[in-house]
Amino acid sequence: FTPKLLAGRKVLITAGPTFEAIDPVRGITNLSSGRMGYAVARAARQAGAEVTLVSGPVGFCPPQGVDRINVKSALDMHAAVMAQAAGADVFIAVAAVADYRVANAAEHKLKKDTGGIPPIELVENPDILAEVAALKNGPFCVGFAAESRNLEEYAQTKRRKKKIPLIAGNLIQDGFGGEDNRLVLFDDAGSHPLAPAPKSVLARQLVEHIAHLTGKH
Ligand code: PMT
Repeated sequence: FTPKLLAGRKVLITAGPTFEAIDPVRGITNLSSGRMGYAVARAARQAGAEVTLVSGPVGFCPPQGVDRINVKSALDMHAAVMAQAAGADVFIAVAAVADYRVANAAEHKLKKDTGGIPPIELVENPDILAEVAALKNGPFCVGFAAESRNLEEYAQTKRRKKKIPLIAGNLIQDGFGGEDNRLVLFDDAGSHPLAPAPKSVLARQLVEHIAHLTGKH
């Protein structure tokens, strides 16, 4: 691994889940641990980049030398990313962002004995990655896609829809939560399957691929 692959470049990364409040103590979230995103942040930093990590609620400390911005909801993550995106050279969206948030989140705790089952109304969250990809002179954008089947088809569809040059696909059973993963990188040249490995190893391979695609190595 070449330590200076991304020297001097600004890399913005999202990681972890989001938490969409239903009331002050309840919410909608998912099982992303943050491990993959944190491994990418560490690898980018080790490659010499200046790294900002926008992180949903996870149980880890930020990797050494990485600036972390803590967020909870998809709207918080959107605001934090959009404030940083114009200044970034590379944006890597590893977070498992909730597609929907609760429109009618309650200010006070919902009580069980007050008139039936409370309805939860959902509204769509902004697509952070698609929005960054649409910026004029914006960063080189890398997405992730976690699927339970049809990995290539679904990941490529997401890549085209969000208009991004590179997406890393993983099966949910391989990637969500644990220490290891199996990634397939999809770009204009086709698909590049990486051997199953610890997330730290895959993160370095992803960083190498990004350095290669962005032309300086
Ligand atoms: O955190 P770990 O336990 O280590 O697990 C890692 C992981 C499985 C969560 C990770 O490797 C992964 O696949 N992340 C993406 C999960 C996913 O399926 O995302 P998506 O299909 O909802 O979105 C596709 C891409 O758009 C992702 O890059 C996502 O960050 C981005 N997105 C999605 C929705 C949204 N509103 N804004 C976004 O930026």
